Amino acid sequence: MIVSTKELFEHAYGKYAVGAYNINNAEQIMGLFRGNLDSSAPFIVQLSKGARSYTDKRLLEAMIRAADEIFPSNIYAVHLDHGDEATCMDCIASGFYSSVMIDASGEDFDENIAITKRVVAAAHAKGIAVEAELGTLGGVEEHVSVSEENAHLTDPKEAEEFVRRSGCDSLACAFGTSHGAYKFAGSQGLHFEIIKGIQELLPGFPIVMHGSSSVPQDEVERINAAGGEMKGAKGVAEDQISQAAKMGVTKVNIDTDGRLVWCRVHREYFRDHPEVFDLRKPGEVFMDEYAKYIAHKNEVLGSAGKLEGVAQAARL
Ligand code: G3H
Ligand code: 13P
Ligand code: ZN
Repeated sequence: MIVSTKELFEHAYGKYAVGAYNINNAEQIMGLFRGNLDSSAPFIVQLSKGARSYTDKRLLEAMIRAADEIFPSNIYAVHLDHGDEATCMDCIASGFYSSVMIDASGEDFDENIAITKRVVAAAHAKGIAVEAELGTLGGVEEHVSVSEENAHLTDPKEAEEFVRRSGCDSLACAFGTSHGAYKFAGSQGLHFEIIKGIQELLPGFPIVMHGSSSVPQDEVERINAAGGEMKGAKGVAEDQISQAAKMGVTKVNIDTDGRLVWCRVHREYFRDHPEVFDLRKPGEVFMDEYAKYIAHKNEVLGSAGKLEGVAQAARL
């Protein structure tokens, strides 16, 4: 059942984080729904702009609706990931999304607020929540000095002002992570002092962590052993994710790890079964493996086992 993102956040805040998983195709959707059911976890299914145009947004949305019938016990929200203003407006008008992310973090502070405010006005009129972004994720290089590096991270005081002026419902903040499979070039982990600073100035307000994939080293090794070239791939340590989840980080975005599972399964499958050309064979393995990954990740986030509590809180 699709619920509001706010309901999920209210139940989770300060106790655990809700996994927000990107999906692109039917196999990912099946693995995602099964893995969340197996671990009794509420979750967020998120669609990027690229995912919406990979096949067709109508196909992707229809597959989620079908999954809702196939897995009637699941409780989740549907979210637009990294939207621009036009895509946010499209998703708001569709009536299908629980929340949208307006990513105007590339604009200056005031312009980011102005754009976010317009999206908030349209979204709130329809009961849809808005995630905004402040700060610049990623690209922290080894040679960058500490002050330059920190200049990309979210300033807690600015975060407080941004939330107050924009009216957004959650905020993606930069505290050390980056998108993709090559994080922490400078070998630093999460900047907990920034998370703490934001939580102190915005108590009870959901912080969103992008770039949260852990890039499991066994996946990377298996991909490389099966012909891949992913030297130096690295992600967020799982104990750091668990710690952040107790500090107001309420939504944890994961895409890359799912791609790694897909890549490993398919590379190994065709290496080990050179005679096979049936796409359903590795597809079946992927759905199982992805479901296992999701169930494991929900243990790390603390969302595993929370399905019943969310249902009771939401009086479902
Ligand atoms: O943060 C970006 C997500 O990983 C989505 O990636 O735009 O390639 O679908 P994508
Ligand atoms: P990863 O690349 O670490 O999976 O992050 C995904 C993300 O932030 C989606 O918005
Ligand atoms: Zn992201």
